[in-house]
Amino acid sequence: MAPEPLVRLDAVSKIFPGGGVGLDAVDLDIARGEFLTLLGPSGCGKTTSLRVIAGFESPSSGRVLLDGRDVTSLRPFDRPVNTVFQDYALFPHMDVAENVGFGLSLRKLSGAEQAKRVGEALDMVGLAEKLGARVSELSGGQRQRVALARAIVCEPRVLLLDEPLSALDAHLREQMQVELKRLQSRLGTTFVLVTHDQTEALSISDRIVVMNRGRIEQIAPPATLYDRPATKFVASFIGTMNLLQSRFVGRDGDRLRFAAGALPLEATSETGEAPGEGSMRTIGVRPEDLLATTEAATGTAPVRVSSIIFHGRTLRLHAELGQGIPVVIDAPRRAEGFQFSVGDVAHISLRRGANCPMLPG
Ligand SMILES: Nc1ncnc2c1ncn2[C@@H]1O[C@H](COP(=O)(O)OP(=O)(O)OP(=O)(O)O)[C@@H](O)[C@H]1O
Ligand SMILES: [Mg+2]
Repeated sequence: MAPEPLVRLDAVSKIFPGGGVGLDAVDLDIARGEFLTLLGPSGCGKTTSLRVIAGFESPSSGRVLLDGRDVTSLRPFDRPVNTVFQDYALFPHMDVAENVGFGLSLRKLSGAEQAKRVGEALDMVGLAEKLGARVSELSGGQRQRVALARAIVCEPRVLLLDEPLSALDAHLREQMQVELKRLQSRLGTTFVLVTHDQTEALSISDRIVVMNRGRIEQIAPPATLYDRPATKFVASFIGTMNLLQSRFVGRDGDRLRFAAGALPLEATSETGEAPGEGSMRTIGVRPEDLLATTEAATGTAPVRVSSIIFHGRTLRLHAELGQGIPVVIDAPRRAEGFQFSVGDVAHISLRRGANCPMLPG
């Protein structure tokens, strides 16, 4: 039997007064000590989920459980949960130590105990020397860390983070992602992060929840989500995926053979289901799983290159496979014999051993 989750959303729906659907019958278990990320496009219900867990929003139906206890009607301050908001919500007239200690000052702790815990929290986020600084003197990344220190100082069971890194530049953001992950392992606290940045979600999470229109599309560890998306929505939201309408042509053991126009493909079926001979399915193919060569060979299909985009280590080719079927290929920039220009015909094939999911619909 699986251990009891720390947080459980049990058929939680949230319909706002105007009739807007925030959440639609969401079931979600969050394990102790896990780093869980809610990922999805704007308006899919990420913030609403956090607010329901924190108690700032009450569900229209369904229950919120913490450690097996029904907390649906408990006020935010009575829950062992803390939130870091997108704008950090620091008090500008207080210094760093006062900001971090604010939550503690509401409890019955001695001054010495408070100071000790504030010092430890600031140490944890690498800001010990900024104890007496004014918030207005801090950089964006430093403010972000003060907000984190303020949230962890009360030792919550669950830390909720709503797009905490979105105000930071790309470089600082990446650095903070590493620090956030490290902090989470050190504390052993359950973190629930909201982001609409899939790269951030993939690099930081134990599991990712992909949301769409108030519902959960898939919950899985990053690599599973990337390699075996369960729906077209997940496939196209996580990284780039070619969704190729393909005809089933037969099977070799558990490998299902398809043809997308003239391009031979192999796919695996998650469900073990084999389509009928000649039936059409959508096969997901990653750009890096397509090889492009100048010469035709068995297993290749011709495409016409319509654009070439510089991506650093790779070049991204946009091409057309047959009549109006767009296909994206990532080719190593320094590959032997790579000399395509826009308008050229390239011959593409599926990389051996590539793992292509067969997607429903
Ligand atoms: N207070 C509210 N009143 C009415 N509708 C709301 C309210 N809060 C959220 N909604 C609606 O609920 C849906 C989910 O909103 P939510 O804020 O959870 O999205 P989100 O995934 O956090 O999006 P974003 O990435 O833009 O922050 C949206 O359609 C939104 O318009
Ligand atoms: Mg939001």
